[in-house]
Amino acid sequence: MQNNLTVHTMPHPISLEEVSPTGVAKIEGLDLSQPISAKQVGAIRQALLQFPVLVFRGQSLSKEQQAKFSENFGELEGHIGKLSDGSTFPTVHTLTNLNAEGNLINMDVAKLNYFWHTDKSYHAVPAFVTILHALEIPPSGGDTQFANTRLAYDALPTALKTRLVGLKAVHDWVASRLNSGTSPATEDQKQARPPVTHPLVRTHPDTGKKALYLGVHVSHIDNMASAESASLIAELTEHIGQERFVYTHCWRKDDVVMWDNRCLLHRALPNYEIARYPRVLNRTVIIGSAPA
Ligand code: OGA
Ligand code: MN
Repeated sequence: MQNNLTVHTMPHPISLEEVSPTGVAKIEGLDLSQPISAKQVGAIRQALLQFPVLVFRGQSLSKEQQAKFSENFGELEGHIGKLSDGSTFPTVHTLTNLNAEGNLINMDVAKLNYFWHTDKSYHAVPAFVTILHALEIPPSGGDTQFANTRLAYDALPTALKTRLVGLKAVHDWVASRLNSGTSPATEDQKQARPPVTHPLVRTHPDTGKKALYLGVHVSHIDNMASAESASLIAELTEHIGQERFVYTHCWRKDDVVMWDNRCLLHRALPNYEIARYPRVLNRTVIIGSAPA
């Protein structure tokens, strides 16, 4: 696919424009609140292979409409735990710093999102795509960053690539809370989320391209001394976070961003006054496949 493209889907053409060489494109010509055709779904899927971050501006969506749009790409993940806004739509989860009364609250769990991660990597079958829809955004900041771990893998020195062959990382909800300084996991959460092991370099099931697969949910590299494991994780994380691999999304209200968790890490930036401005996004997660 070229970097600027019109896809002649019915009833309207879709236009796609690259916004960052780190694999980010903007798609225009679609109203995501309405049903989209199989050809349009196909065009989005195809675009995602080249641009693992896709941005759609000016979308006004109910939770139900977001769920319908998301279901075009696979089965939606239920959300464990209580929804902070008291909502009963378990597949559309609201990321918010407001409580049910609409007052600003200090979100402990949200801190975890300030660290590079890939969604649900503590599951044996982690996320494929995550879709966020911005309902309320601070006047400035509250950005989300995406690091392209396929480009980061490609750029590694050959000796380091060789060293990574066959390595597996242990992803663990308990470790993730410790790594991020979030309140410790509850017994129920520990039961529901035992540690899982994934290849440190995963092969994308659709493109066949290799990408680094780690993040804040990783406790250690399997079968490696803990100091060596910690230093390898730190080295790779620092490498991935270089500007040349990173896109920063500055949200506008009514943005929809969808991303492929299989070849990206992402994090929220705490670059706004969290106790002063609401930041509210609706989120759907599509279940992927076991990393290989
Ligand atoms: C997420 C996430 C980051 C943000 O929804 O999975 O990490 O900026 N969000 O809110
Ligand atoms: Mn996330």
